[in-house]
Amino acid sequence: MTGNPSLSPWDELPVRDELRGKSPYGAPQLDVPVRLNTNENPYPLPDALVERIVERVREAARNLNRYPDRDAVELRTELAKYLTKTGKYAVGLQNVWAANGSNEVIQQLLQTFGGPGRTAIGFEPSYSMHGLISRGTGTGWISGPRNEDFTIDRAASERAIAENKPDVVFITTPNNPTGNAVPAETVLALYEAAQAAKPSMVVVDEAYIEFSHGESLLPLLEGRPNLVVSRTMSKAFGAAGLRLGYLAAHPAVVDAVQLVRLPYHLSAVAQATALAALEHTDTLLKYVEQLKTERDRLVLELRAIGFDVTESDANFVQFGRFDGENGSHEAWQKILDRGVLVRDNGVPGWLRVSAGTPAENDAFLDAVRELKKEQSA
Ligand SMILES: Cc1ncc(COP(=O)(O)O)c(C=O)c1O
Repeated sequence: MTGNPSLSPWDELPVRDELRGKSPYGAPQLDVPVRLNTNENPYPLPDALVERIVERVREAARNLNRYPDRDAVELRTELAKYLTKTGKYAVGLQNVWAANGSNEVIQQLLQTFGGPGRTAIGFEPSYSMHGLISRGTGTGWISGPRNEDFTIDRAASERAIAENKPDVVFITTPNNPTGNAVPAETVLALYEAAQAAKPSMVVVDEAYIEFSHGESLLPLLEGRPNLVVSRTMSKAFGAAGLRLGYLAAHPAVVDAVQLVRLPYHLSAVAQATALAALEHTDTLLKYVEQLKTERDRLVLELRAIGFDVTESDANFVQFGRFDGENGSHEAWQKILDRGVLVRDNGVPGWLRVSAGTPAENDAFLDAVRELKKEQSA
Protein backbone atom coordinates (compact mmCIF):
# COMPACT_ATOMS: atom_id res chain seq x y z
CA MET A 1 0.00 0.00 0.00
CA THR A 2 1.30 3.46 -0.85
CA GLY A 3 -0.53 5.24 1.96
CA ASN A 4 -1.96 7.69 -0.61
CA PRO A 5 -5.18 8.93 1.11
CA SER A 6 -6.97 9.51 -2.22
CA LEU A 7 -6.73 5.80 -3.04
CA SER A 8 -8.87 3.16 -1.32
CA PRO A 9 -7.19 -0.16 -0.42
CA TRP A 10 -9.23 -1.62 -3.30
CA ASP A 11 -7.58 0.71 -5.82
CA GLU A 12 -4.18 -0.48 -4.71
CA LEU A 13 -4.79 -4.23 -4.63
CA PRO A 14 -3.69 -6.01 -7.80
CA VAL A 15 -7.26 -7.24 -8.41
CA ARG A 16 -7.96 -8.63 -11.91
CA ASP A 17 -9.09 -5.88 -14.31
CA GLU A 18 -12.44 -7.51 -15.10
CA LEU A 19 -13.40 -7.50 -11.39
CA ARG A 20 -12.44 -3.88 -10.74
CA GLY A 21 -15.42 -1.62 -9.98
CA LYS A 22 -17.92 -4.53 -9.93
CA SER A 23 -20.30 -5.16 -7.00
CA PRO A 24 -20.52 -8.54 -5.26
CA TYR A 25 -23.84 -10.44 -5.18
CA GLY A 26 -25.66 -8.90 -2.26
CA ALA A 27 -29.35 -9.34 -1.56
CA PRO A 28 -29.81 -7.48 1.75
CA GLN A 29 -30.18 -9.83 4.75
CA LEU A 30 -32.23 -7.51 6.98
CA ASP A 31 -33.92 -8.48 10.22
CA VAL A 32 -37.53 -7.58 9.40
CA PRO A 33 -40.79 -9.41 10.21
CA VAL A 34 -41.52 -10.55 6.64
CA ARG A 35 -38.62 -11.50 4.34
CA LEU A 36 -39.73 -12.15 0.78
CA ASN A 37 -36.60 -11.15 -1.11
CA THR A 38 -34.49 -14.20 -1.93
CA ASN A 39 -36.97 -16.72 -3.35
CA GLU A 40 -36.47 -19.04 -0.41
CA ASN A 41 -39.10 -21.55 0.55
CA PRO A 42 -40.86 -20.06 3.63
CA TYR A 43 -41.68 -23.42 5.19
CA PRO A 44 -39.14 -24.84 7.66
CA LEU A 45 -38.32 -28.50 7.11
CA PRO A 46 -40.87 -30.84 8.77
CA ASP A 47 -39.90 -32.44 12.10
CA ALA A 48 -39.73 -35.98 10.66
CA LEU A 49 -37.21 -34.81 8.09
CA VAL A 50 -35.16 -32.91 10.68
CA GLU A 51 -34.97 -36.16 12.69
CA ARG A 52 -33.90 -38.11 9.61
CA ILE A 53 -31.19 -35.53 8.86
CA VAL A 54 -29.91 -35.90 12.44
CA GLU A 55 -29.79 -39.70 12.05
CA ARG A 56 -28.01 -39.58 8.71
CA VAL A 57 -25.57 -36.89 9.85
CA ARG A 58 -24.86 -38.84 13.05
CA GLU A 59 -23.91 -41.84 10.90
CA ALA A 60 -21.76 -39.66 8.65
CA ALA A 61 -20.09 -38.05 11.68
CA ARG A 62 -18.55 -41.38 12.68
CA ASN A 63 -16.53 -41.30 9.48
CA LEU A 64 -15.57 -37.65 9.38
CA ASN A 65 -11.94 -38.65 9.89
CA ARG A 66 -12.13 -39.83 6.26
CA TYR A 67 -12.70 -37.74 3.14
CA PRO A 68 -16.24 -37.99 1.77
CA ASP A 69 -17.25 -40.00 -1.31
CA ARG A 70 -15.56 -37.83 -3.93
CA ASP A 71 -18.02 -38.88 -6.61
CA ALA A 72 -21.13 -38.64 -4.37
CA VAL A 73 -22.40 -41.85 -5.96
CA GLU A 74 -25.33 -42.53 -3.61
CA LEU A 75 -26.52 -38.93 -3.78
CA ARG A 76 -26.23 -38.70 -7.57
CA THR A 77 -28.11 -42.00 -7.90
CA GLU A 78 -30.97 -40.65 -5.77
CA LEU A 79 -31.00 -37.32 -7.64
CA ALA A 80 -31.18 -39.27 -10.92
CA LYS A 81 -34.19 -41.20 -9.57
CA TYR A 82 -35.90 -37.94 -8.58
CA LEU A 83 -35.30 -36.44 -12.04
CA THR A 84 -36.49 -39.60 -13.79
CA LYS A 85 -39.66 -39.68 -11.68
CA THR A 86 -40.56 -36.01 -12.07
CA GLY A 87 -38.94 -35.02 -15.36
CA LYS A 88 -40.49 -37.50 -17.81
CA TYR A 89 -37.02 -38.53 -18.96
CA ALA A 90 -34.82 -41.33 -17.66
CA VAL A 91 -31.42 -40.27 -16.37
CA GLY A 92 -28.89 -42.30 -14.42
CA LEU A 93 -25.86 -41.74 -12.23
CA GLN A 94 -23.67 -41.06 -15.28
CA ASN A 95 -25.90 -38.15 -16.33
CA VAL A 96 -25.96 -36.36 -12.99
CA TRP A 97 -23.41 -34.23 -11.19
CA ALA A 98 -23.82 -32.40 -7.86
CA ALA A 99 -22.07 -29.49 -6.16
CA ASN A 100 -22.48 -26.88 -3.41
CA GLY A 101 -25.52 -25.07 -4.78
CA SER A 102 -26.31 -24.63 -8.44
CA ASN A 103 -24.04 -21.58 -8.29
CA GLU A 104 -21.12 -23.99 -7.93
CA VAL A 105 -22.52 -26.14 -10.73
CA ILE A 106 -22.56 -23.02 -12.94
CA GLN A 107 -19.04 -22.12 -11.84
CA GLN A 108 -17.76 -25.58 -12.70
CA LEU A 109 -19.47 -25.41 -16.11
CA LEU A 110 -17.86 -22.04 -16.81
CA GLN A 111 -14.46 -23.25 -15.62
CA THR A 112 -14.81 -26.18 -18.00
CA PHE A 113 -16.40 -24.58 -21.06
CA GLY A 114 -15.70 -20.84 -20.56
CA GLY A 115 -12.57 -19.16 -19.21
CA PRO A 116 -10.05 -16.65 -20.57
CA GLY A 117 -10.53 -15.91 -24.26
CA ARG A 118 -14.04 -17.38 -24.21
CA THR A 119 -17.48 -15.83 -23.77
CA ALA A 120 -20.92 -16.60 -22.31
CA ILE A 121 -24.26 -15.00 -23.14
CA GLY A 122 -27.50 -14.60 -21.15
CA PHE A 123 -30.72 -12.81 -22.05
CA GLU A 124 -31.20 -10.02 -19.52
CA PRO A 125 -32.74 -9.21 -17.16
CA SER A 126 -31.96 -12.68 -15.87
CA TYR A 127 -30.10 -14.32 -13.00
CA SER A 128 -27.26 -11.89 -12.28
CA MET A 129 -24.89 -14.63 -11.07
CA HIS A 130 -24.54 -16.01 -14.60
CA GLY A 131 -22.69 -12.81 -15.50
CA LEU A 132 -20.86 -12.54 -12.18
CA ILE A 133 -19.60 -16.13 -12.23
CA SER A 134 -18.60 -15.65 -15.87
CA ARG A 135 -16.44 -12.70 -14.89
CA GLY A 136 -15.09 -14.61 -11.89
CA THR A 137 -13.93 -17.41 -14.17
CA GLY A 138 -12.39 -15.00 -16.69
CA THR A 139 -15.19 -15.62 -19.19
CA GLY A 140 -16.30 -12.57 -21.19
CA TRP A 141 -19.97 -11.75 -20.53
CA ILE A 142 -22.40 -10.80 -23.30
CA SER A 143 -25.74 -9.32 -22.30
CA GLY A 144 -28.31 -10.61 -24.81
CA PRO A 145 -31.66 -8.95 -25.50
CA ARG A 146 -35.19 -9.52 -24.19
CA ASN A 147 -38.56 -8.14 -25.32
CA GLU A 148 -40.37 -5.33 -23.42
CA ASP A 149 -42.64 -7.97 -21.87
CA PHE A 150 -39.56 -9.93 -20.72
CA THR A 151 -40.09 -12.83 -23.13
CA ILE A 152 -37.06 -13.91 -25.16
CA ASP A 153 -36.94 -12.31 -28.60
CA ARG A 154 -36.12 -15.44 -30.58
CA ALA A 155 -34.88 -13.79 -33.77
CA ALA A 156 -32.79 -11.19 -31.93
CA SER A 157 -31.32 -13.87 -29.65
CA GLU A 158 -30.46 -16.13 -32.60
CA ARG A 159 -28.74 -13.13 -34.19
CA ALA A 160 -26.83 -12.35 -30.98
CA ILE A 161 -25.61 -15.96 -30.86
CA ALA A 162 -24.66 -15.99 -34.54
CA GLU A 163 -22.77 -12.69 -34.23
CA ASN A 164 -21.00 -13.31 -30.91
CA LYS A 165 -20.40 -17.06 -31.21
CA PRO A 166 -20.44 -17.51 -27.41
CA ASP A 167 -18.96 -20.65 -25.84
CA VAL A 168 -21.76 -20.90 -23.27
CA VAL A 169 -25.42 -19.87 -23.62
CA PHE A 170 -27.56 -19.45 -20.48
CA ILE A 171 -31.33 -19.82 -20.69
CA THR A 172 -33.13 -19.47 -17.36
CA THR A 173 -36.58 -20.98 -17.30
CA PRO A 174 -38.59 -19.99 -15.35
CA ASN A 175 -36.56 -16.81 -15.53
CA ASN A 176 -35.37 -14.94 -12.46
CA PRO A 177 -36.25 -12.11 -11.70
CA THR A 178 -39.12 -11.89 -14.19
CA GLY A 179 -40.81 -15.25 -13.44
CA ASN A 180 -41.83 -16.24 -16.97
CA ALA A 181 -40.96 -19.60 -18.52
CA VAL A 182 -39.23 -20.02 -21.89
CA PRO A 183 -41.07 -22.24 -24.41
CA ALA A 184 -39.28 -25.45 -25.44
CA GLU A 185 -39.32 -24.32 -29.11
CA THR A 186 -37.32 -21.21 -28.19
CA VAL A 187 -34.77 -23.27 -26.28
CA LEU A 188 -34.47 -25.64 -29.25
CA ALA A 189 -34.05 -22.75 -31.69
CA LEU A 190 -31.31 -21.20 -29.54
CA TYR A 191 -29.62 -24.58 -29.16
CA GLU A 192 -29.56 -24.96 -32.95
CA ALA A 193 -28.24 -21.40 -33.35
CA ALA A 194 -25.51 -22.11 -30.77
CA GLN A 195 -24.47 -25.33 -32.53
CA ALA A 196 -24.37 -23.60 -35.91
CA ALA A 197 -22.32 -20.69 -34.52
CA LYS A 198 -19.63 -22.54 -32.57
CA PRO A 199 -20.78 -25.21 -31.37
CA SER A 200 -21.28 -24.10 -27.77
CA MET A 201 -22.75 -25.42 -24.52
CA VAL A 202 -26.34 -24.44 -23.70
CA VAL A 203 -27.16 -24.35 -19.99
CA VAL A 204 -30.85 -24.41 -19.15
CA ASP A 205 -31.13 -23.13 -15.57
CA GLU A 206 -34.23 -24.77 -14.09
CA ALA A 207 -33.76 -23.60 -10.48
CA TYR A 208 -37.53 -22.91 -10.21
CA ILE A 209 -38.96 -25.61 -12.48
CA GLU A 210 -40.92 -27.41 -9.74
CA PHE A 211 -43.09 -24.29 -9.41
CA SER A 212 -43.90 -24.11 -13.11
CA HIS A 213 -47.31 -24.63 -14.72
CA GLY A 214 -45.39 -26.46 -17.44
CA GLU A 215 -42.86 -29.24 -17.50
CA SER A 216 -39.10 -29.64 -17.23
CA LEU A 217 -37.05 -29.46 -20.43
CA LEU A 218 -35.11 -32.53 -19.32
CA PRO A 219 -36.38 -34.62 -22.31
CA LEU A 220 -34.55 -32.19 -24.62
CA LEU A 221 -31.31 -33.81 -23.43
CA GLU A 222 -32.03 -36.72 -25.79
CA GLY A 223 -29.54 -36.52 -28.66
CA ARG A 224 -28.18 -33.12 -27.52
CA PRO A 225 -24.77 -33.65 -25.92
CA ASN A 226 -24.13 -29.91 -25.62
CA LEU A 227 -27.23 -29.28 -23.50
CA VAL A 228 -27.12 -29.09 -19.70
CA VAL A 229 -30.06 -28.74 -17.30
CA SER A 230 -29.12 -27.29 -13.92
CA ARG A 231 -31.24 -27.68 -10.79
CA THR A 232 -31.14 -26.90 -7.08
CA MET A 233 -32.47 -28.15 -3.76
CA SER A 234 -32.58 -24.51 -2.53
CA LYS A 235 -36.12 -23.76 -3.70
CA ALA A 236 -38.55 -26.69 -4.10
CA PHE A 237 -36.80 -28.79 -1.43
CA GLY A 238 -36.80 -25.85 0.98
CA ALA A 239 -33.11 -26.40 1.62
CA ALA A 240 -31.34 -23.17 0.67
CA GLY A 241 -29.12 -23.54 3.74
CA LEU A 242 -27.92 -26.95 2.60
CA ARG A 243 -26.19 -25.64 -0.57
CA LEU A 244 -26.92 -28.47 -2.96
CA GLY A 245 -27.23 -27.99 -6.69
CA TYR A 246 -26.98 -30.52 -9.50
CA LEU A 247 -27.03 -30.93 -13.24
CA ALA A 248 -28.24 -33.45 -15.78
CA ALA A 249 -26.42 -33.85 -19.07
CA HIS A 250 -24.65 -36.27 -21.39
CA PRO A 251 -22.13 -38.42 -19.43
CA ALA A 252 -19.29 -36.68 -21.31
CA VAL A 253 -20.28 -33.38 -19.66
CA VAL A 254 -20.22 -35.03 -16.23
CA ASP A 255 -16.75 -36.41 -17.04
CA ALA A 256 -15.55 -33.00 -18.25
CA VAL A 257 -16.52 -31.11 -15.06
CA GLN A 258 -14.42 -33.59 -13.06
CA LEU A 259 -11.40 -31.74 -14.45
CA VAL A 260 -12.23 -28.57 -12.50
CA ARG A 261 -14.09 -29.72 -9.39
CA LEU A 262 -12.07 -29.50 -6.20
CA PRO A 263 -11.30 -32.89 -4.67
CA TYR A 264 -13.96 -33.84 -2.09
CA HIS A 265 -15.93 -30.64 -2.81
CA LEU A 266 -19.20 -32.00 -1.35
CA SER A 267 -18.86 -32.64 2.37
CA ALA A 268 -20.08 -35.91 3.91
CA VAL A 269 -22.50 -33.83 6.02
CA ALA A 270 -23.99 -32.17 2.93
CA GLN A 271 -24.34 -35.52 1.13
CA ALA A 272 -26.03 -37.10 4.17
CA THR A 273 -28.41 -34.15 4.57
CA ALA A 274 -29.36 -34.09 0.90
CA LEU A 275 -30.04 -37.84 0.95
CA ALA A 276 -32.34 -37.40 3.95
CA ALA A 277 -34.22 -34.59 2.14
CA LEU A 278 -34.63 -36.76 -0.96
CA GLU A 279 -36.26 -39.45 1.19
CA HIS A 280 -38.95 -36.85 2.00
CA THR A 281 -39.50 -35.64 -1.56
CA ASP A 282 -43.26 -36.30 -1.54
CA THR A 283 -43.85 -34.21 1.60
CA LEU A 284 -41.65 -31.39 0.32
CA LEU A 285 -43.42 -31.31 -3.04
CA LYS A 286 -46.71 -30.78 -1.19
CA TYR A 287 -45.32 -27.48 0.10
CA VAL A 288 -44.51 -26.64 -3.52
CA GLU A 289 -48.20 -27.08 -4.39
CA GLN A 290 -49.17 -24.69 -1.57
CA LEU A 291 -46.65 -22.16 -2.80
CA LYS A 292 -47.94 -22.40 -6.36
CA THR A 293 -51.44 -21.62 -5.08
CA GLU A 294 -50.08 -18.65 -3.10
CA ARG A 295 -48.06 -17.48 -6.12
CA ASP A 296 -51.19 -17.53 -8.28
CA ARG A 297 -53.07 -15.63 -5.55
CA LEU A 298 -50.33 -12.97 -5.45
CA VAL A 299 -50.61 -12.52 -9.23
CA LEU A 300 -54.41 -12.11 -9.06
CA GLU A 301 -54.44 -9.80 -6.04
CA LEU A 302 -51.61 -7.61 -7.30
CA ARG A 303 -53.48 -7.17 -10.57
CA ALA A 304 -56.70 -6.40 -8.67
CA ILE A 305 -54.84 -3.70 -6.70
CA GLY A 306 -53.79 -2.18 -10.02
CA PHE A 307 -50.22 -3.36 -10.54
CA ASP A 308 -48.78 -4.76 -13.74
CA VAL A 309 -47.61 -8.32 -13.13
CA THR A 310 -45.38 -10.51 -15.29
CA GLU A 311 -46.72 -14.06 -15.81
CA SER A 312 -45.01 -16.27 -13.23
CA ASP A 313 -43.99 -19.92 -13.36
CA ALA A 314 -41.73 -19.52 -10.35
CA ASN A 315 -42.11 -19.08 -6.58
CA PHE A 316 -41.97 -15.30 -6.98
CA VAL A 317 -43.77 -12.54 -8.83
CA GLN A 318 -42.46 -9.46 -10.63
CA PHE A 319 -44.72 -6.44 -10.24
CA GLY A 320 -44.69 -2.74 -11.19
CA ARG A 321 -44.64 -0.28 -12.62
CA PHE A 322 -43.02 2.36 -10.55
CA ASP A 323 -42.40 5.56 -12.46
CA GLY A 324 -39.44 7.86 -12.12
CA GLU A 325 -35.73 7.27 -12.11
CA ASN A 326 -35.75 5.86 -8.58
CA GLY A 327 -39.39 4.77 -8.58
CA SER A 328 -38.84 1.11 -7.84
CA HIS A 329 -36.24 1.77 -5.16
CA GLU A 330 -38.51 4.31 -3.41
CA ALA A 331 -41.40 1.80 -3.50
CA TRP A 332 -39.03 -0.90 -2.16
CA GLN A 333 -38.16 1.36 0.78
CA LYS A 334 -41.82 2.15 1.51
CA ILE A 335 -42.72 -1.55 1.53
CA LEU A 336 -39.73 -2.15 3.83
CA ASP A 337 -40.93 0.64 6.14
CA ARG A 338 -44.08 -1.48 6.55
CA GLY A 339 -41.96 -4.45 7.69
CA VAL A 340 -41.84 -6.38 4.41
CA LEU A 341 -38.59 -6.98 2.53
CA VAL A 342 -38.99 -7.54 -1.23
CA ARG A 343 -36.30 -7.42 -3.93
CA ASP A 344 -35.18 -4.50 -6.02
CA ASN A 345 -33.29 -6.26 -8.77
CA GLY A 346 -32.41 -3.12 -10.62
CA VAL A 347 -35.01 -3.78 -13.34
CA PRO A 348 -36.24 -0.19 -13.87
CA GLY A 349 -39.87 0.18 -12.76
CA TRP A 350 -40.26 -3.31 -11.30
CA LEU A 351 -39.87 -5.17 -7.99
CA ARG A 352 -39.95 -8.87 -7.15
CA VAL A 353 -41.71 -10.60 -4.27
CA SER A 354 -41.17 -14.24 -3.27
CA ALA A 355 -44.27 -16.26 -2.39
CA GLY A 356 -44.33 -16.70 1.38
CA THR A 357 -46.76 -18.30 3.79
CA PRO A 358 -50.38 -17.09 3.46
CA ALA A 359 -49.86 -14.76 6.47
CA GLU A 360 -46.64 -13.31 5.00
CA ASN A 361 -48.33 -12.76 1.66
CA ASP A 362 -51.26 -11.03 3.39
CA ALA A 363 -48.80 -8.70 5.15
CA PHE A 364 -47.15 -7.95 1.80
CA LEU A 365 -50.48 -7.34 0.06
CA ASP A 366 -51.58 -4.97 2.86
CA ALA A 367 -48.31 -3.05 2.48
CA VAL A 368 -48.63 -2.65 -1.30
CA ARG A 369 -52.33 -1.76 -1.02
CA GLU A 370 -51.35 1.12 1.26
CA LEU A 371 -48.54 2.07 -1.11
CA LYS A 372 -50.94 2.16 -4.06
CA LYS A 373 -53.40 4.35 -2.10
CA GLU A 374 -50.58 6.71 -1.17
CA GLN A 375 -49.43 6.88 -4.78
CA SER A 376 -52.87 7.62 -6.17
CA ALA A 377 -53.76 10.15 -3.41
C1 LIG B 1 -32.02 -18.87 -11.66
C2 LIG B 1 -31.18 -19.28 -10.50
N1 LIG B 1 -30.23 -20.18 -10.68
C3 LIG B 1 -29.45 -20.59 -9.66
C4 LIG B 1 -29.62 -20.08 -8.40
C5 LIG B 1 -28.66 -20.51 -7.33
O1 LIG B 1 -29.20 -21.40 -6.48
P1 LIG B 1 -28.34 -22.23 -5.43
O2 LIG B 1 -28.88 -21.85 -4.10
O3 LIG B 1 -28.57 -23.65 -5.80
O4 LIG B 1 -26.89 -21.85 -5.59
C6 LIG B 1 -30.62 -19.15 -8.15
C7 LIG B 1 -30.80 -18.60 -6.78
O5 LIG B 1 -31.56 -17.74 -6.51
C8 LIG B 1 -31.42 -18.72 -9.23
O6 LIG B 1 -32.36 -17.79 -9.07
